[in-house]
Amino acid sequence: MALDDYRTALVTGASSGIGAAVVTALRARGLTVHAVARRAERLEALAQETGCTPLVLDLRDTGALYDALGGLEVDILVNNAGLGRGFEALFEVLPEDIDATLGTNVVAAVHVVRAVAAGMVARKRGHIVNIGSIAGLYPIKSSLYGASKGAVHLLSQNLRVELQGSGVRVTEICPGRVETEFFQVAVGEEAAKEAYAGFEILVPDDVADAILYALDVPWRVNIGTIEMTPTEQYAGGVTIVPVDKG
Ligand SMILES: NC(=O)c1ccc[n+]([C@@H]2O[C@H](COP(=O)([O-])OP(=O)(O)OC[C@H]3O[C@@H](n4cnc5c(N)ncnc54)[C@H](OP(=O)(O)O)[C@@H]3O)[C@@H](O)[C@H]2O)c1
Repeated sequence: MALDDYRTALVTGASSGIGAAVVTALRARGLTVHAVARRAERLEALAQETGCTPLVLDLRDTGALYDALGGLEVDILVNNAGLGRGFEALFEVLPEDIDATLGTNVVAAVHVVRAVAAGMVARKRGHIVNIGSIAGLYPIKSSLYGASKGAVHLLSQNLRVELQGSGVRVTEICPGRVETEFFQVAVGEEAAKEAYAGFEILVPDDVADAILYALDVPWRVNIGTIEMTPTEQYAGGVTIVPVDKG
């Protein structure tokens, strides 16, 4: 029960970046792909290009989420929609950025799993792929985004325990920096250029390839966590910043 046996997929955050690349890769493997995002014209263009099924939906509208996804039979969930806002220190972050970040990356992501996992368990087939981040594994000076992706990490770890014996596999992908619209949404067009300057970063297809690898391995194998960064980026280390005790 691996990728060749799966027939349908649901990809959230499909209108750009990693999500669009995954939709394209799964369509190339012949799956029916439901592609979720808010921007209808982007999804329409992706549908023209790939033959995916567009599903215009704001995942922060919980009622609409269950109405749209509750009845879908999907073998693969790529739980990818997300954003980073409030990259300043937490004590300076706008309250609405806290709501947007946790509401999208955590609350909506958990509801999406809730909406589709019951069907997977009943059919004894399924694969949940959550998109985390190295920010969920290591401190990288982003309390708000880190909190959201740390939640995705333990969501994934605990789902793996809960779903033991169900036939449903769980994978978390934790990328470092990827060239998408993420930083434009996070910090605006101009500042985003700095996020990409001076080193070679991942492209969405790199992440899609990792996801396809996890889906493609024989059913006896569960790829739990994939951590992937640009070669020129690392997370962790020790930085000492002495306090000015004035
Ligand atoms: N880029 C990176 O460096 C990086 C690194 C680690 C992890 N990630 C994670 O990778 C995932 C994909 O991000 P990306 O880098 O591909 O960024 P992106 O190009 O900005 O894509 C984000 C996607 O999420 C969708 N989305 C956001 N809020 C939504 C909502 N309320 N309802 C429905 N869809 C929503 C957006 O679509 P609409 O705006 O059309 O709704 C868009 O399709 C995110 O979870 C992000 O945290 C990114």
